[in-house]
Amino acid sequence: MNLQLELPGRKQSLLLPNPVMTASGTFSFGLDKGHGFNVQDLGAIVTKTVTLRPRAGNPQPRTAETPAGMLNAIGLQNPGVGALVRDIAPKWARWRVPVIVSILGATVEEYGRLAERLEGMPHISGIEVNISSPNATRGGMEFGQDPQAAAAVTAAVVRGTTLPVIVKLTPNVTDITEVARAVVDAGADALCVINTLQAMAIDAEARKPVISTVFSGLSGPAIKPVALRMVYQVASAVDVPIIGCGGIACGTDAVEFLLAGASAVQVGTATFVSPSAPIDVLNGLKAYMADHGIDDVASLVGAARV
Ligand SMILES: Cc1cc2nc3c(=O)[nH]c(=O)nc-3n(C[C@H](O)[C@H](O)[C@H](O)COP(=O)(O)O)c2cc1C
Repeated sequence: MNLQLELPGRKQSLLLPNPVMTASGTFSFGLDKGHGFNVQDLGAIVTKTVTLRPRAGNPQPRTAETPAGMLNAIGLQNPGVGALVRDIAPKWARWRVPVIVSILGATVEEYGRLAERLEGMPHISGIEVNISSPNATRGGMEFGQDPQAAAAVTAAVVRGTTLPVIVKLTPNVTDITEVARAVVDAGADALCVINTLQAMAIDAEARKPVISTVFSGLSGPAIKPVALRMVYQVASAVDVPIIGCGGIACGTDAVEFLLAGASAVQVGTATFVSPSAPIDVLNGLKAYMADHGIDDVASLVGAARV
């Protein structure tokens, strides 16, 4: 059974042993134990988004459960790119699982500087450009909602790195294909579709918003149909590999995203329900392939497209 795939890059390609990755912000930097599986067995680890300087994140409460999902407004809490380069990246030295570092800048220039800081680091296989966080006061989704700004960020990152560049799109737009086309024209090697949907919860007893920042991002099974629709649309609009993300919790979910046109998938919120979710998704995908006599995972990609 062949699960390997290659995400071709302008300067280097990203070779994934299988198509199942962790989603940014839901698996930290991959170093925590206790999830009950070997991280080396995954297709890739995508790190928590890092910024130029450390960030403390938003005040509590910053998460809440919703029917079939969760809200978060973590606010990009992270130790900063300096600590990542100095203290965290060396710990990946003996890993065979590719590590993709997620970055977010407050300005176009900051995105470029972040890419440059990661250039030449031996243990980093790719960059995921977060232009889609609804939880950044500057940067993030404001870039991802404007095709021109999204293209400018992408171009700045592409100039600063030889690594494959994945741009992570926001669903909080009228037409996701406009942004998808703009970032691909600007040099994106692959797209991650999607980040969280902007949302909110209100406490009827307290008569106030539940989350400290009022608005937050919705994730989990509740957003899966939206994510699937957007993967399908983006796959019709551009010619680069798509990494599907949004509500994936089992092997069948992953298969559905591949059938819609994704080449790989990311597992996020499901990890909070069951820490072994990423490996369970991979095992479920393998079981589906075995049951249906599928030898090569690539043959599933886009197979449900009409
Ligand atoms: C607690 C939490 C923190 C997150 N942090 C980030 C982040 O730092 N960067 C990012 O690009 N996405 C972040 N996300 C979004 C996820 O990577 C993913 O795009 C989204 O949750 C949809 O996938 P899911 O339904 O499988 O969680 C976060 C999601 C959650 C639930």
